Formats: sequence, C-alpha cells, structure tokens
Amino acid sequence: MDSFLNSMPKAELHLHLEGTLEPELMFALAERNGIELPYASVDELSRAYNFGNLQDFLDLYYQGAEVLQTEQDFYDLTWAYIERCKAQNVIHIEPFFDPQTHTERSIPFATVIRGISRALADAESKYGISSGLIMCFLRHLSELEAFNTLHQAEPYLDNIIGIGLDSSEQGHPPAKFERVFAKARSMGLLAVAHAGEEGPAQNIIDALDLLHVDRIDHGVRATDDAELMQRLAQEKMALTVCPLSNTRLRVFDDMSQHNILQMLEQGVKVTVNSDDPAYFGGYLTENFIALEQGLGMTRGQALELARNSFEYSFASPNRKAEMLALLGKLG
Ligand code: ADE
Ligand code: ZN
Repeated sequence: MDSFLNSMPKAELHLHLEGTLEPELMFALAERNGIELPYASVDELSRAYNFGNLQDFLDLYYQGAEVLQTEQDFYDLTWAYIERCKAQNVIHIEPFFDPQTHTERSIPFATVIRGISRALADAESKYGISSGLIMCFLRHLSELEAFNTLHQAEPYLDNIIGIGLDSSEQGHPPAKFERVFAKARSMGLLAVAHAGEEGPAQNIIDALDLLHVDRIDHGVRATDDAELMQRLAQEKMALTVCPLSNTRLRVFDDMSQHNILQMLEQGVKVTVNSDDPAYFGGYLTENFIALEQGLGMTRGQALELARNSFEYSFASPNRKAEMLALLGKLG
C-alpha cells in the first residue's frame, strides 16, 4: 500500500513554499548568506519543532524564512520541493508563497517571485510537473499592507493564478480582507483562504460569502456545523486538508480522531495536502500513509482523494482530463 500511495499520481493544492525549508537547507543558506542561526545544529533545530498550536509554529517558521535572501535562494528552495514531487509522483502543484514575510525584511518582491517562477518553469520543462502559483496575504498584517502587496504583484500577474490568506487565524477573520479580495478577483485572480483550521466554522462561511473563495484551505472545523457541511457538499466546494499539519499543531490530538474521511464519506470534496512538510514530518505520500495507518483509509478512498486533487485544481480542462486519465488506469 505504501508504494501504491507513493506511485499514485496526485496533485498538491495546499503547500507553503517557505514551509518546505528543510533544516539542512536552512543551515546551508544561513552559511551562504552569513547569517547566524540561534541553533547549534540541524538536530537542535529539529528538536525545536514541537508545537503546541499554530502560533508556536508560525514564530519558528517566520524566523526560519530569514535565511532566504537572494533569487537563487528562492530557486533552490522551490527546486528542492520539486525534486520531492518528482519522487512522489506529484504531477501538478499549486504552491503558496508569502511575499510579505520577505518584503518586510527589505527583500524585493521581484527577487522572490523570479526565483520561484524560474524553478516552476524548470519543473514543467524538465519533469512535466504543471503548476499555478498562489500569493498569500498574511492576515496578522493590515488590509493596507495587503493592498500594497497586491499592487507590487501587478507586473507579475502572468506568474500568479490566485491569492490566498494565511497566518494567525484567531483575531483576524475573513471580513478584514473583503475589499482586497474583491479587488484581486476583479483583476482576474482566483481566490482561496485558510479558514476553520483553528478558527470557528463561521470563518469558513465568511470566506465563502465575503471573500468569494474558489476553495477553502483546511476547513476541518466545518464538521461543527451540519448546515455548512451540506452546503459544502452541494456547492462542491473543495477543502484542502492537511492531516500531518493538523496533528502537529494539535488541531486533532491523534490521527485516529481526524475527520477527513468522515467528510469524504459525507460528500464533501476534500483533498490531502502537506502544508509545511519540512516542519510537520512529511510530504504528500507521508500524509496519505498517515491516513492509512491512523484511519484505515482504503485504496478506493485514496484514489478518490487523488481524483479530487485533480478535479478541484485550477488546471486547464485539458490538463485535468490528462491527469484524471492517468488515475483512471489505476481503477
Ligand atoms: N502559514 C504556513 N502554514 C500555515 C498554516 N497551517 N496556517 C496558517 N498559516 C500558515
Ligand atoms: Zn497552510
């Protein structure tokens, strides 16, 4: 089953590129850029990855991202993730990046997006991995700062398919970003938002009604609200669920308590994703394996989850058909 899960073609729709920064690469980039890390070794850093909640993780994640300085750093970060995708037969990706984590440190927007985009272009030409890049706004920052970021993205709209919303959910509800999402959508960008990860089901409803998102990231708190569950199923609104992230950030105490398969069986269009794999102990295959081990996911359920990842991706109709056909061959 593990090798089946690894070789099964799949798409990743919820992945923060900054969250793919493995400790080894963090140390290598720190050295290359003359930055002193507050950890003596890779082991010491890895031992710090023991999070009580989302904010504990975010504090370390933003600190780690400080080693990213040059266009080549962003290329190397992205390329290392592409190699993981290649090894796990992830054939389509829609990664997130957080420009504000970098522009706040005076790294130009252009440096970030050029490095990432060059690696994504190489992924397509060398490995046939298709992609669409999503730019996230940090919800702990202001609406004005989000508008400024959208403005900085204007010369690069060909490199971006959509916008997202991430960082601390508590205290920063969707309503704060209603106007900047409306503006981005008027520019032709698709929209997603983290909602119902640590925050209440109401944040999912508000992401739908105020931000008019095309997908919900996480959304696991939807099961608190039966009416919302029905709506999600009826509207075929996909949720990009991240099992290992949820257990590492204590959204669920144990994988055996995770609700992803319950949602799948209730007709909600859930997908499996890795969120921040360098911090949470696994890429896409490891997330599928965790569902098999913790919840007894069947082969049929794994195939349905992979099918959802293609169906609810933002790929073109032709590309979707091509990817679904590859999966069809497996049953
Ligand atoms: N940024 C990176 N990972 C995140 C997560 N799981 N939730 C919110 N913001 C994030
Ligand atoms: Zn996320």
